[in-house]
Amino acid sequence: MRGKFITLEGIDGAGKSTHLRWVARFLRSRGIRLKLTREPGGTAAGEKLRRLVLGSRRGLHPETETLLMFAARREHLDKVIVPALAAGRWVLCDRFTDATYAYQSAGSGVRWSKVGALERWVQGGLQPDLTLLFDVSPATGRRRARHRTRIDRFEREKGDYHRRVRAAYLKRARANPRRVRVVDASGSIEEVNRTLEKLLLSYC
Ligand code: TYD
Repeated sequence: MRGKFITLEGIDGAGKSTHLRWVARFLRSRGIRLKLTREPGGTAAGEKLRRLVLGSRRGLHPETETLLMFAARREHLDKVIVPALAAGRWVLCDRFTDATYAYQSAGSGVRWSKVGALERWVQGGLQPDLTLLFDVSPATGRRRARHRTRIDRFEREKGDYHRRVRAAYLKRARANPRRVRVVDASGSIEEVNRTLEKLLLSYC
């Protein structure tokens, strides 16, 4: 049986990495064979592209970023995601195409329809079965991200940028209500875990 494809999203500082570890442990404890991966990245070429995009000091043109995200995604689907799902494993992916809509389109101004065209080209009809969108206000996100020592290019963006990113994620959720579940991530880790447990139990 084909595995399930789950993606995790949220603005920087939403606590996605912490919750990803919890979700992975929870699914594995239920006997699910899981492949953990991330975007941009997940393959040798993808990780190189990640360093290129996230590490770029002067900043690439937003459309260049978009194209590189989808180039990395094409490799990731071909080498990792599709084979794992076909082998019956579940794939838990830290960010996917919703992030390109949120960051490159809403954040950096690439036309929404251009992201859509690349999405159709690269993914065909393939979409995650479930997307967990960890939602917090930009103020909370900023407060939580402040203690990090390694700040990447996107995390340095200020003010209105994160508000636009969040609004785009919520727009994707409204447009895809069966796939995207908005998880209020403003509470404590324990509260979020309880929400996740209920949600995942109804799912697996
Ligand atoms: P993030 O997922 O926060 O990882 P870490 O916890 O290691 O910092 O960082 C990845 C960054 O990549 C994040 O700021 C969003 C950005 N990104 C895009 O801009 N577009 C995309 O399509 C993807 C997948 C990520």
